[in-house]
Amino acid sequence: MWYFLALLGLCSRANAADLNSLVNLFIGTVSSGNAFPGAAIPHGMAKVGIDVTAGVRQSGYLHDNSSISGISLMHDEGTGGNALGGYGIFPLFPLTNCTFSSCPVALSARVALRAANADAAEPGYFTTTFVNGIKLETTSARRSGLIRFTYPKSGPNHVVVDLTNDLGRSFSGGSLTVSDLGRVKLGGTFLQSYGQSNYTVFACYDFAAPKSVNEHTIDAFGTYQSKNLSTPSTVTITANSTSLNFPYTGSVSPQQAGALLGFTGSSVLARFGISFHDSDTACANAEEEIPDWDFDAVQRASAEAWEDILSHIGVDTVVEDATVVELLYSSMYRANLVPANLTGENPYWQSPFPFFDAFFCSWDTFRTVHPLLSLHDPRGWGQIVSAYVDGWRHTGYIPECRANTKPGYVQGGDDGMIPLGDFAVKYGQHAQELGVPSDDLYTALVETAENTPPNWYTVGRQNTAWKQFGYIPTDWTDPSGSTGLPTREASRALEYALGDFAVRQAAIALRKDPGDVVKYSNRSMNFVNMWNPNLTHDGFTGFSQRRAVNGTFLFSSPDACSPVDPVGHSCARGSDNNVGFYESSSWEYSFFAPQSMATIVDLMGGPDTFIPRLDHYFAKGYFSAGNEPGFENPWAYHYANRPDLSALRVRNVVYRNFNTGFNGQVIPGNDDSGAMASLLIFHLLGMYPVPASKQLLIGAPFVSAFTIFNDFFGTTTSFRVINFDKKTLQATPPAGSNIFVKSITINGKPSPSLCWINFDDVVGGGNIEIEMFNDVTKAATAGCLPGGLPDSLGTGGFAP
Ligand SMILES: *[C@@H]1O[C@H](CO)[C@@H](O)[C@H](O)[C@H]1NC(C)=O
Ligand SMILES: *[C@@H]1O[C@H](CO)[C@@H](O)[C@H](O)[C@H]1NC(C)=O
Ligand SMILES: *[C@@H]1O[C@H](CO)[C@@H](O)[C@H](O)[C@H]1NC(C)=O
Ligand SMILES: *[C@@H]1O[C@H](CO)[C@@H](O)[C@H](O)[C@H]1NC(C)=O
Ligand SMILES: *[C@@H]1O[C@H](CO)[C@@H](O)[C@H](O)[C@H]1NC(C)=O
Ligand SMILES: *[C@@H]1O[C@H](CO)[C@@H](O)[C@H](O)[C@H]1NC(C)=O
Ligand SMILES: *[C@@H]1O[C@H](CO)[C@@H](O)[C@H](O)[C@H]1NC(C)=O
Ligand SMILES: *[C@@H]1O[C@H](CO)[C@@H](O)[C@H](O)[C@H]1NC(C)=O
Ligand SMILES: *[C@@H]1O[C@H](CO)[C@@H](O)[C@H](O)[C@H]1NC(C)=O
Repeated sequence: MWYFLALLGLCSRANAADLNSLVNLFIGTVSSGNAFPGAAIPHGMAKVGIDVTAGVRQSGYLHDNSSISGISLMHDEGTGGNALGGYGIFPLFPLTNCTFSSCPVALSARVALRAANADAAEPGYFTTTFVNGIKLETTSARRSGLIRFTYPKSGPNHVVVDLTNDLGRSFSGGSLTVSDLGRVKLGGTFLQSYGQSNYTVFACYDFAAPKSVNEHTIDAFGTYQSKNLSTPSTVTITANSTSLNFPYTGSVSPQQAGALLGFTGSSVLARFGISFHDSDTACANAEEEIPDWDFDAVQRASAEAWEDILSHIGVDTVVEDATVVELLYSSMYRANLVPANLTGENPYWQSPFPFFDAFFCSWDTFRTVHPLLSLHDPRGWGQIVSAYVDGWRHTGYIPECRANTKPGYVQGGDDGMIPLGDFAVKYGQHAQELGVPSDDLYTALVETAENTPPNWYTVGRQNTAWKQFGYIPTDWTDPSGSTGLPTREASRALEYALGDFAVRQAAIALRKDPGDVVKYSNRSMNFVNMWNPNLTHDGFTGFSQRRAVNGTFLFSSPDACSPVDPVGHSCARGSDNNVGFYESSSWEYSFFAPQSMATIVDLMGGPDTFIPRLDHYFAKGYFSAGNEPGFENPWAYHYANRPDLSALRVRNVVYRNFNTGFNGQVIPGNDDSGAMASLLIFHLLGMYPVPASKQLLIGAPFVSAFTIFNDFFGTTTSFRVINFDKKTLQATPPAGSNIFVKSITINGKPSPSLCWINFDDVVGGGNIEIEMFNDVTKAATAGCLPGGLPDSLGTGGFAP
């Protein structure tokens, strides 16, 4: 679909429908991006890709020259957590030039280097070639896929089907059967990459393709396993053996084990299915989704699904800046990979509702991933929101960080609350049509805001403390016996306040008890309880800090846990975090109250100190471009009535932290399940979403025109940037370039604000014109226009 051309009536171009070709799947695969570049459909459960042996490799892949250990079936996207990575289950590995009984099947023996620059990928397809000439290709459907090996010479060639080596090397039991018809069924239990649990997963490989696509015959099969566990890489290969069984032991085993198949012919096509139920379901999933083993057809279907998703945002790919276009569509791709659609694959409870995994973590994704889905894919988003609600229905709490199908660790608040509030605000009136029971959604929010789970380290919040004190005191033992990891007290309180704002917003949108609105409005403002007005740092006074039970503030240096922390603190969840903030500093988190930024401006002494303070935060390096707590801050000048400064800052942040090449910072941090990707999309389109509200901050787009298609309303909204100036596409737009917003008209009517736009207009299907100019003085004095500041709860904003 190509909405933009249709709308603007431009003449059609050959490449108009080939947005897939603009996607660079390798963005975010160097340094710490951890992006997944393998084959997957949008929100696919199967994410097939190669796994490298080198260091930090959360998604299995690195764009480097390290060896690869196999091609495996599922992966996370962009996450942190265990450096070795999660998933990477049941890899295949192709071998040539060996005899069956002496093939190097164990992990350390078989690893192979890739030929130089051999990796290539496009949406729905990945390929590489080993230095020994074996070519790998893969494509996938939702719970199944195809993997093809092309060998440099005719057989005997071999394929290892690895039972035990997931990415984390966390096998703790499993089994395998081989049939002489070429079917290998596997099941295994592995540790999740982020959290305290394990999960059990199943796969089914078929190697006997129908004659029409078959280029090989199976001429040998068997199993292998470690001779003994003190030297696990010494293995025994047993021809004609058809099963292996390693009972669950409760601890991780170094066992090397799997099946080995021998083939005549010079290529092998393997079909796989995966399931969380059992291996027969895995086989059935493959049979249902890929009945005829047609590689090209599977790849085409995947490519079409991607082309459809990508087209939800339209730009003229010829006219606009090539780097911006590549960044935009590559980001759009990654922003729609997860959460993973496990509908029908929930092993834990029976439910008619959708099941999604890889909410890894809502702390990362609430800011930009969900708001982006709200703009262009409310049907898919409704299913995801429904899966969050179903998590509450069956566990009592809204899931926060479901990783590898199990609850992970809670990072800040139970931040799944925020997308649910966002959904209520934006689609509450259409909830039923979108498959979300809105009464359940609301009850889920209230119960998560009120109840305290026995262990709020994996789900839920420490509401006992929050309700009693209005903050999270340090050194307080919950008399109820409820436990969790009691660190990050200051930043958790700030997020709990935002979570309560999500409940307040849902109460209004869903017309719930007005008493609830009052109650949660009040609690939304409790972020002020963390504010120590007396602390001064770098000449700026007033910072969020942790507090003791008796109310006194406990000092930690505001630059602690910033990128320029002179001391070097522990800043993660652990009990060694004595700063009170999670993965961020007091300098950064002191700006965090998106529900009431006017209050922050006020606490910081008004616009005249807020603006220099924000400037100082960027200049001193306290801004962490690579992590979520700072996402909104380049836009925060809007709240001091200075959208002109946000425009300059956003340009600077984008060009200093994002690029398309392989050198330097391709993305500034972990992609985090598409969080970084969707952030970049918002920056490029000149918008930033205010959580759990219909407001989007608006600014200077990086393109001269774009369209947003909404798949529920069936609307295409056209944005046109008048006086768009390509010279502004750099870190420091030159003086005299048209970087400032002069006026905004929505369907011909002047917008009363130059700082924010309503969601209903963004998805309303009309025409929005943003006129740019270069007048520094006029831009500074116009500000948001009288009365045009974005809403803040503390100044009466977000009125019911
Ligand atoms: C791989 O790349 C690294 C870093 O660029 C380089 O030092 C090393 O020599 C390369 N190794 C091989 C086997 O090409
Ligand atoms: C095949 O194996 C033999 C014996 O190990 C070795 O000498 C030869 O170089 C190998 N050929 C290829 C193409 O790997
Ligand atoms: C690990 O898996 C086993 C076998 O499925 C199960 O009995 C056990 O409860 C799991 N442990 C955790 C912590 O998830
Ligand atoms: C395991 O293998 C090692 C090295 O081959 C050997 O020393 C050891 O005795 C073996 N252990 C068992 C239990 O067989
Ligand atoms: C495995 O089975 C095949 C076919 O029945 C037979 O030719 C071969 O000798 C067997 N191999 C072993 C080691 O038993
Ligand atoms: C998830 O999978 C189900 C079953 O195939 C499908 O109906 C649904 O549309 C999918 N949703 C998304 C968002 O991919
Ligand atoms: C919230 O309610 C408490 C208790 O009634 C009150 O002391 C506090 O001032 C209220 N806060 C706001 C921001 O209204
Ligand atoms: C801040 O300092 C003032 C003046 O010394 C004092 O009255 C006030 O109690 C202090 N506030 C806090 C929260 O420490
Ligand atoms: C409050 O608690 C802190 C931390 O336990 C302690 O250092 C401080 O002395 C207490 N202040 C008062 C006034 O009791």
